[in-house]
This record gives sequence, structure tokens and C-alpha cells, in this order.
Amino acid sequence: MPFAHITGWGMYVPEPVLTNDDISKMVDTNDEWIRDRTGIRERHIARENEFPSTLAVEAAIKALQVANLAPTELDLIICATSSPEYIFPATACLIQDQIGASKAGAFDLLAACSGFIFATNMAAQAIRSGSIKNALVIGTETLSRFVNWKDRNTCILFGDGAGAFVLQASEIPGGILSAVMHSDGSGADSLTLPGGGSHHPATELTLHEGKHFVQMDGKEVFRFATRVMGRASIEALESAGLTTADVQWIIPHQANLRIIETAAKYLKMPIEKFVINVQNYGNTSTASIPIATVEAAQKGQLKIGDKIVFVGFGAGLTWGAMVVQWTGPIPAKKLVHPEQYRRFARLRSFARRMLRFIEGLLSRKEI
Ligand SMILES: CC(C)(COP(=O)(O)OP(=O)(O)OC[C@H]1O[C@@H](n2cnc3c(N)ncnc32)[C@H](O)[C@@H]1OP(=O)(O)O)[C@@H](O)C(=O)NCCC(=O)NCCS
Repeated sequence: MPFAHITGWGMYVPEPVLTNDDISKMVDTNDEWIRDRTGIRERHIARENEFPSTLAVEAAIKALQVANLAPTELDLIICATSSPEYIFPATACLIQDQIGASKAGAFDLLAACSGFIFATNMAAQAIRSGSIKNALVIGTETLSRFVNWKDRNTCILFGDGAGAFVLQASEIPGGILSAVMHSDGSGADSLTLPGGGSHHPATELTLHEGKHFVQMDGKEVFRFATRVMGRASIEALESAGLTTADVQWIIPHQANLRIIETAAKYLKMPIEKFVINVQNYGNTSTASIPIATVEAAQKGQLKIGDKIVFVGFGAGLTWGAMVVQWTGPIPAKKLVHPEQYRRFARLRSFARRMLRFIEGLLSRKEI
């Protein structure tokens, strides 16, 4: 049975930064309160012309560059997102088209902030089963579009960004060692974006009632998160036949520093073993774990052979953890340039649109 290795990683955040001081000009809050309760100092916010696919494409190309893999070699793209570009088509399909992943199947996965762990697990299982060789997993968000900038309970928390992993099959043991995924829909109300779906399709009333904004019971989510983070990590470690003593790094979902500190206490692990960057990005939902991983990798913190636990939680409610043996890129003989495929992808996309247009004209004549 092949192993599923993380061979590439990339991240992208929009340039504009929104500090706590900036937010204090919009709602009744202040830098000290936000830092004390969440650890967040600033977050990046997408420009008007940036979308989940725009951010994802940048992160994906970087991940493919690290893996030295051409987009045309991808068999599967899973995009985990809590702020999809549309209800349909899937954001993953827009990414597939823009990067030129001509043979990849692409779909979105919705498990809120746990989505990246769920998606990575799904891609790893597809590789382990032998049905595919190369997968791209992306977490991408422009949650700033769904935040009520008049609600101080939520607007301080979220930020925009994207992170991506390339997963590849290899006979060498390592890579994704185990994963656990959990859900509890009885907690669906505690964190929700109720408007715009089939239950509350957009109307003047839903707009007036603020149903198209993130709604959250912060205390409830806090209690849930502190309960599940440590437990899920232990469960994933046990499933991999490991203990916390074997672990070099924990890379948690970056929602709140206090939640991460509680998990560290539960696991009796020093906080220094936790990769933390919530201060710079806020909660980027599905993108937070890959962004934290990329930063740790770029700082040289992740060494080949390191055992890493990814752990996350989110709306649903959902939570999960994954144990990974860090391997790095598969050594390549020939250098490929994934970024160059973008131009080819644009041409290909245009040609396919034209073809469909001409097909449409011809079929009209036939009728
Ligand atoms: C949202 C969160 C930071 C609030 O912190 P908290 O310590 O629970 O704060 P509370 O909601 O109890 O509010 C305490 C007080 O601060 C006030 N407050 C809330 N937000 C505030 C803000 N941004 N600035 C200043 N005061 C604020 C409240 O109105 C309340 O005032 P009151 O005591 O006069 O009623 C915290 O609950 C949290 O992080 N929850 C988890 C959220 C999360 O991670 N969501 C994403 C999951 S993927």
C-alpha cells in the first residue's frame, strides 16, 4: 500500500492589514481587549478584486513549486473552504482551471475550520488506496466578506488567506500516519452563516435580519474547542501508535491563543512545541493550519522525520486531528515550473469556452 507524503506547501495572504486599532475605530473595542482575549494583533483582508480562488491559486502554485510538480500531473484537487466563491460551482473547479490542472477531478469540502484536516485525510486515503498518485489540498478564505463589521463579538476574530499542500504517493514509509474526524451537528447553532442556503434563501428579510453574516456563541465555541483539541490529538496519536513524547510539533487551528494554551496544558506539552501565528493572521479558518505549517517550514523548524500533530475544530460542529511524519519534497531529476502553466491554463480555458460557444451555434443549426 503506498504512503501519502506531504511533498509541497505554499501560502498566500492578501497584502492589506487590518490592525486591532483599525477595528477599534469601527466598533467599541480596543487593542488590549482583543490581544488579552484572543492573542490576535492584526489580520489580512482581501482586496475587492481578490477571491478565495485568487488566493488559492497563489498558494497552490507555491506548493507545486516546492513539490516540483506540474499541475498537469495532479489527479485530485480538494478545496476546503468556509467562504466559497459560489454555492456552486465548487471553488476547487475555478482553481483547477486557473492553474491548468487539466486531468484533476476537483471538489469542495465543507467542514468549516476543520476542513483542511478532513480534506488532507480524504486526499491521503485516495492515495493510500492506490487510486490516485498526486493531490492538491487547499484551504482558502475570504471570510471578511461574511463578517458583520458592526459586531464586535465576531469581527475581531477572522482574517483572509490561503494555504496548500501537495500530497504524493511513495513506497517509502511516512507521511500521513493517522487521522481522526468527528462531528456533532447538535451544536450547529453555535457557529453558523444561516443565510443564502436552501433553508434561508436570500430575501430582503434575511438581509435585514443579518442572516448573511457569521453568527457565533463565542463562549459555547470556546468551551467546545478547549474540550476537543487535546482529546483529538491523543486519539490520533494512539491511532498512529505514538505518544506526546514522540511529537516535535503541534500545529493547531489558529483561532485563539487561549484555546491553544488550554490544549497545551491538557496535553502536558510545553507551549514552545506549538506553532502559533494567530497574532499575525487572526482566524483564517481552513487556511490557518497550512499557513502555520508553511511559516514553520520556511523558518526551518520542521525537520525531516519530525512527527507533527495537526489539530482543528470548527462549525458543524466538527473537529479532527492528524499525525504526520514530515518528509519534504521527493528528490527530482528535472526542474518543472508550475507557474508557467498558468499562461497555458488561461489559453486552454479560453479555447474551451470558444469550443463550447461554437458547439452551441452548431447544435442550434442542427435543431
Ligand atoms: C469571542 C471571544 C474572544 C469572547 O471572549 P470572552 O472572554 O468569552 O468574552 P465574553 O463574550 O464573555 O464577553 C465579555 C465582555 O466583553 C464584551 N466584549 C465582547 N467582545 C468585545 C470586544 N471585541 N471588545 C470589547 N469588549 C467585548 C462583552 O460584551 C462582554 O461584556 P459584558 O460582560 O459587559 O457583557 C471568545 O469567546 C472566543 O474566542 N470564543 C471562541 C471563538 C472562536 O474561536 N470561533 C471560531 C471557531 S473556529
